[in-house]
Amino acid sequence: MSMEITEVKKGEAVHFQNPAKEFYKAVGEEEGMRTLMYNFYDKIYESDIANFFPQDEEEFEAIKVKNTKFFIQICGGPKVYEDEAQGMELNEYMIRIHDDFSITEKSRIEWLGTMREALQELEDVNEKLIEDFWSYLDNFSKLTVNSFSDGSTYYAAYTQAKED
Ligand code: HEM
Repeated sequence: MSMEITEVKKGEAVHFQNPAKEFYKAVGEEEGMRTLMYNFYDKIYESDIANFFPQDEEEFEAIKVKNTKFFIQICGGPKVYEDEAQGMELNEYMIRIHDDFSITEKSRIEWLGTMREALQELEDVNEKLIEDFWSYLDNFSKLTVNSFSDGSTYYAAYTQAKED
C-alpha cells in the first residue's frame, strides 16, 4: 500500500471525494470505525502533535467520540454527526473547526503518518478501499493547514474544496 502524502499549496483548489461506503462496511461499520479511530487517537497521544489535543482524559474522550461520529457519517454511514455540524455542510464545518489551531504542513504530515499506521493495522480490508479512504484524507487535510513556513496564515475558503 502506498498511502502517499502529496504537498499542500497555499490557496490551491483541493479536489477530493468523500470516502466510499464500501470502506465503512469493510472496516465493520460503526463498531469497526470506533476501533480504528480510538487506535488512531492512542497513537496521537504518542505523536509529535499530542500537544494539540486535550490532556484531560474526559475532554480527550469527547474528541474521540465526535471524531468517530464524523468519520461514520462522512463515509456514508448513519448521520450521527449531523447535530454537531450546526447546519453546515460537513466538510465545511470540519475546515472551520481547525481554524482554532495553528496547523502547519509538518503537523499535517504527522497527523497523516499517524493515521497511516492505524490503517496499516486493519485486517481483511481491501487495499483499494484503504487507498480510496487515504485519498480523501491526503487531499482534505490540505484544507486544515493554515500556518505556513514563511510565517503567514491562510484559512482555506470552503469554495476551495472541490468535491468531485
Ligand atoms: C483529513 C483531515 C482531518 C479530518 C477529517 C479531521 C477531523 C477532525 C474531527 C472530526 C475532529 C473533532 C471535531 C469536533 O469537535 O466535533 C477534529 C478535531 C481536531 N483536529 Fe482534526 N482532522 C483532520 C486533520 C487534522 C490535522 C492535520 C490536524 C493537525 C494537528 C488536526 C488537529 C485537530 C485538533 C487539534 C482537533 C481538536 C481538538 C480539540 O477540540 O481540542 N486535525 N478533527
